[in-house]
Amino acid sequence: MRILSGLQPSGRLHIGNFFGMMEPALKLQHEGDAYYFIADYHSLTSVHDGKALRGYVRELAVDFLACGLDPTKCVFFRQSDVPEHTELSWILSTVTPMGLLERCHSYKDKIANGISASHGLFAYPVLMAADILLYESDVVPVGRDQKQHVEVTRDIAIKMNETFGAGLFKLPNPRIQESTAVVPGLDGQKMSKSYDNTIPLFAPRPELKKLIAGIKTDSRAPGEAKSTEGSALFQIYQAFASAEETAAFAQDFANGIAWGDAKDRLFERIDFEIAPMRARYEWLMAHPQEVEVMLHAGAAKARAVATPFMARLRQAVGLRSLATATTRGPAKAAKAAAASFKQYREKDGQFYFKLVDAKGALLLQSLGLDSPQAAGKAIALLKAQGAGALAELQPLLAPFDAQHAPLLQALHALSTPAE
Ligand code: TYM
Repeated sequence: MRILSGLQPSGRLHIGNFFGMMEPALKLQHEGDAYYFIADYHSLTSVHDGKALRGYVRELAVDFLACGLDPTKCVFFRQSDVPEHTELSWILSTVTPMGLLERCHSYKDKIANGISASHGLFAYPVLMAADILLYESDVVPVGRDQKQHVEVTRDIAIKMNETFGAGLFKLPNPRIQESTAVVPGLDGQKMSKSYDNTIPLFAPRPELKKLIAGIKTDSRAPGEAKSTEGSALFQIYQAFASAEETAAFAQDFANGIAWGDAKDRLFERIDFEIAPMRARYEWLMAHPQEVEVMLHAGAAKARAVATPFMARLRQAVGLRSLATATTRGPAKAAKAAAASFKQYREKDGQFYFKLVDAKGALLLQSLGLDSPQAAGKAIALLKAQGAGALAELQPLLAPFDAQHAPLLQALHALSTPAE
C-alpha cells in the first residue's frame, strides 16, 4: 500500500492540521510505503514573500520530524525538489475540465471571502492531483476539507486513462479519521489560518494559555450544567484525550464546571501531550542543516519513482524523441528489440547485469552490486528511460561509450513501447 500526503508551509502548524492529517498520517507510516512532503509549490498560491516562505518550510519540516516522522521509514521531501510534480500538473491540466475546478469548495470559499483568485489558486487541485498520481498512491490521509480534492484527482486520473491508455494512472482513496475530520478553532468555526482562529501546536506555554483563554464559550455561570454539544473547548479536549478522560470531562460539564477551570484543564492536557515533542522541535529548529540533509535524501528517493513514471507518461502522450519515427523501420526495430538484459551472480557473491544484442555481443556491463534488487532497479530505469538513464547509472556501470550507436539503438527500442 502506498500512502501519500502533504501539508502547505503557509504558517505555523495548528491543532487542526495535526489531528486532521499529521497524526493519522504518522500512524500509517509503519503500515505501508509512505510518502510525506512539504507542499511549497502550493504555498506560492498564498505566500508571496520569499523569506517568509523559507521560514515556513523550515518550520514545517521540523514539525513533521518533531511529531514523530521517521525519515528512515518513509520518503520525506520538499515538493519543489522534485520538478516532475509541475510537469505532470501541466499534462493533467490539458484534460481537466474547467467545470471540475469551478465546483471545488475551497476555491469557491476563497472567492466568497473576497480573495482575488490567481490562475495558480484556481489550478491548485490539478497540482494536488499530480502530487498524488505521480507516486501511484493508494491512500491519501487528509482532513475532511481535502476530500473533494482527492475526488477531483480520481476524476482526472479516469480522464487520463480514457485519453491515453487504461492503467496509466492508479485511482487513490482519501483516508479520513472521522473523530477529528474537522477540528474547530477558537471561534467554533473550522480551525484554519484563513479564519485566524488557530492554536499552533508548538505555541510556547504563555501563548498557548492565552489562546485557550480566548476560546469562545457561552455565558453559563459556574455551577450551571454545560452542554458538550457544539463546544469547541470540549471537542479540542476530546482530540487529545482518551475515551475515559473524555467521559470524565463530559461529566464535569454536566456538573457545572466553571469555564475558567475547563480551560485550565484543556491547557494542562495539551501541554502534557506536547512537552515531549517540544525538546526535539527546539533542537531541530536550531539545526536546519540536519533537516536539509534529510530533505535532500528524501527528494532523491522520490525522484527515483517520479522520473521513470514521467518517462513512461511522456512516451504515452507523445512527448518523445523524433528519432523514434525515423530510425525505427520495422526491420531495425525488431533487430534492436532483440537485445536483452541478463542478470546473474558471480563467484565473488555479487550481482551483475549486462545488455547483449541478438547475437550475444556485449553492449553494456554492470559492476558488482549488493543485491538482485539493485540490479533489477537499474534495469527498470534503463527500460523506462533508455539512454537517458545512463548518466545517473554511470557509477554502477563498467566504462562504456555513450555514443555507441548499437547501444543507443538497443536502449531506445527497449524503452519505447511497441505501437
Ligand atoms: P493544508 O496545509 O491546508 O492542510 C493540511 C492538512 O490539514 C487538514 N486540516 C484539518 N483537519 C481537520 N480539522 C481542521 N480544522 C483542519 N485544517 C486543516 C487538511 O485537511 C489537510 O489534510 N491541499 C493540501 C496540501 C496538499 C496535499 C497534496 C494533501 C498538497 N498536495 C497531496 C494530500 C495530497 C492542503 O490544503 O493542506
